[in-house]
Amino acid sequence: MIRVAGVGDVHYGKDSRGRLAPYLDGLDRVADVYLLAGDLTQVGSVEEGRALADDLRRVSVPVIAVFGNHDFHSGQESGIRASLEGVGVKVLEQSSSLLEVRGKSVGIVGLKGFGGGFWGACATDFGEAEMKSFVRTTKRQAEWLRERLRSLNADYKIVLMHYSPVSDTLAGEKKEIYPFLGSYLLAEAIDAGGADLVLHGHAHHGIEKGATPGGVPVRNVAMPVIRHPFNVYTLNKGGLVQAHPHPAAALAEPGEADM
Ligand SMILES: [Fe+2]
Ligand SMILES: [Fe+2]
Repeated sequence: MIRVAGVGDVHYGKDSRGRLAPYLDGLDRVADVYLLAGDLTQVGSVEEGRALADDLRRVSVPVIAVFGNHDFHSGQESGIRASLEGVGVKVLEQSSSLLEVRGKSVGIVGLKGFGGGFWGACATDFGEAEMKSFVRTTKRQAEWLRERLRSLNADYKIVLMHYSPVSDTLAGEKKEIYPFLGSYLLAEAIDAGGADLVLHGHAHHGIEKGATPGGVPVRNVAMPVIRHPFNVYTLNKGGLVQAHPHPAAALAEPGEADM
């Protein structure tokens, strides 16, 4: 049994230091790994990254993160990465990490993902250079994801990303912005490569539960959605067993960001 704690969109500001800290002590009693699904910061400043790193320092299980769109806003993502790595957090950007949990190998495949939309309402790789560039950014990530999942040799495969691979978990968001919230190409890659669980964020007004067309469970762990410092998902060979929210009282929404 593997216990995965996940949250996205914690959106730390420079004054957020201490906000998550009280909930992170003793995390090893309820989870084997803590995954952060991007939008770690509000405007992507090093100072915000440092505030989050100071809180994550106390986590006693491996912490693995991906960046979200907010973390790129100020062009300081290398500084944010350095702060996080300084306290032992692994930041994945089209890369993967292999853990061992009670004799089982757990592969975490991490990427930001990108937009483009979903079946029947998606951008296409056609026309202006700007549109091609937009769609090809997602295509390249989807191709990488499919190949990485195919080649990854692990008992459990977990995809950690910021954008959504499915529209299920976007219910509650305005349909007009779905193309900026994720892409079906990512779900196709997950189904082709195989995975046991996908965690994403970015859709603050969405819902928690969805699945790829191939049946891989997808969970939107954006903090404004789960309203807790993390949810814990328990995996075993029979698939996703159960989700346990953090026992603490529900948290208020972190900041004003929309996605
Ligand atoms: Fe986002
Ligand atoms: Fe966000």
